[in-house]
Amino acid sequence: MFRPYILAAALSLAVPSTGLAGTVSVDVMKTSGCGCCLGWMEYLEENGFEVSGEDLFGGTLVRLKIDSGIPPNMFSCHTAKVEGYTIEGHVPAADILRLLDERPDAVGLAVPEMPLGAPGMDYGDEKEAFDVFLIRADGSTEVFSSYPGN
Ligand code: CU
Ligand code: CU
Repeated sequence: MFRPYILAAALSLAVPSTGLAGTVSVDVMKTSGCGCCLGWMEYLEENGFEVSGEDLFGGTLVRLKIDSGIPPNMFSCHTAKVEGYTIEGHVPAADILRLLDERPDAVGLAVPEMPLGAPGMDYGDEKEAFDVFLIRADGSTEVFSSYPGN
């Protein structure tokens, strides 16, 4: 009669709880044929995220960005969903983990456009300086972290 309880305990051990690094699921919306989106997805996988991807038509992707609360000046190539937050562009893994740790009242994070040397935008040793922005629900943005160029 203890069997069902033991089984349930074993199952709860087998299914890791969310919030631990390595078990965070990221769903990436992108357009087909964009290599840097795939580069960013691979980078997240290498950093322990569980990554899924979906190709959308360009107009549908732009609509999704707007509906998600991403201001046009923050637009990049892909838009991802992570535990209720929206991640726009080539955002580093450390910033996503910090966001999930701090859980601010916000839309999410963005790296606008596509800076050379940002994760998934590898271009030899060349690195452009870039900022990661926190986007608030009212559309305002503030610098969340900064990365130096070379
Ligand atoms: Cu890109
Ligand atoms: Cu992309």
